[in-house]
Amino acid sequence: MKIFTPNSSIEHAERNSLLQKSLRESVQYFSIESEYPIVLSKDGSRFSYCFRHENVLVAHANLWPRVVTCSVTKQRWNIGLIGNVATDERFRGQGIMSNVLEHLKSVATDTNLSILILWSDLLEFYQKQGFRSFGEERRYIYTEDSLSKRQVDSPIKDVFYNKHEISNISDVTLDTFMDLRPKTTLTIDRTTREFASLLRIPNLNVFSSTDSNGRLYAFAIIGKGADMESVVHEWGADSPSDILNLLSFILSDSDREAAMLLAPKELPKDLHKELNSFISGKEQHPMALAWTHPALPKNECRHLEKLFIWGLDSI
Ligand SMILES: CC(C)(COP(=O)(O)OP(=O)(O)OC[C@H]1O[C@@H](n2cnc3c(N)ncnc32)[C@H](O)[C@@H]1OP(=O)(O)O)[C@@H](O)C(=O)NCCC(=O)NCCS
Repeated sequence: MKIFTPNSSIEHAERNSLLQKSLRESVQYFSIESEYPIVLSKDGSRFSYCFRHENVLVAHANLWPRVVTCSVTKQRWNIGLIGNVATDERFRGQGIMSNVLEHLKSVATDTNLSILILWSDLLEFYQKQGFRSFGEERRYIYTEDSLSKRQVDSPIKDVFYNKHEISNISDVTLDTFMDLRPKTTLTIDRTTREFASLLRIPNLNVFSSTDSNGRLYAFAIIGKGADMESVVHEWGADSPSDILNLLSFILSDSDREAAMLLAPKELPKDLHKELNSFISGKEQHPMALAWTHPALPKNECRHLEKLFIWGLDSI
């Protein structure tokens, strides 16, 4: 099976058209490639794996190599994220995607990727391809009503809530955001430049709280293209009440009835407890689906189950 990476404007357009048709049922005001500013960009061709039958580009999957660093031991793993998986409707059920995924596993072997991770509801399909549920995340759901049950003391500090103009966010602010995120043992390394690129995804809003000295102490990112509508998929704060205050502001700023906060399982107990106290609902969920390289030692595999991937890093 001849799999290739697209290297002309025509091939990019063919790929984008296949993904748009296969993965976006409803018409959006933005294109699918604008939702993936790294892996579907022209510069990101090497992350795209396409299959052509006669003259038609009939299947595609992204494979994005990333690095995970353990904050305790500093051990690093190369991993791969898979996304934008689609076979042209007319060619489904012929084993094409199974072959593309086999190819990605051989790329993983050749390039020392320990695991391949993806997000999908098609459990049955991916189980057949050797993927299984992996890791755990918490999903806290809040409404204005549930958050109003908090005893808010007279304000201890002046708070300024900001809804950011994305293009005006400085690198220093982006680095502060990353420092504010709750500490996890394992997450994906991300450069400031990658962060800035990922914030260009349409339908995404960034909120933050600053004090009267201009010190930033909480932030939340909500929405991501056609996905994660009303989901805060990346956040950080000095204290649990700071993130809950910011969520209250986000809900009052929009006509959203509820917002979901994604959180790593591995948070300090008091933070989970506080986040839990004012929910209107919650869910516990595997973090993703993963294929593990057969040569990966069992203890490393267990350790990697702690991995938490923030929303902007997922594809
Ligand atoms: C999911 C998808 C990529 C599968 O591509 P495909 O080329 O038809 O897949 P294959 O022919 O290799 O199928 C392999 C096996 O999975 C099964 N399968 C295919 N699609 C399935 C689905 N949606 N649900 C469950 N099983 C599925 C096939 O029946 C086949 O089983 P078999 O080996 O027992 O015969 C394709 O259906 C598609 O593009 N769907 C729309 C987009 C989408 O949902 N993408 C995934 C987003 S994560």
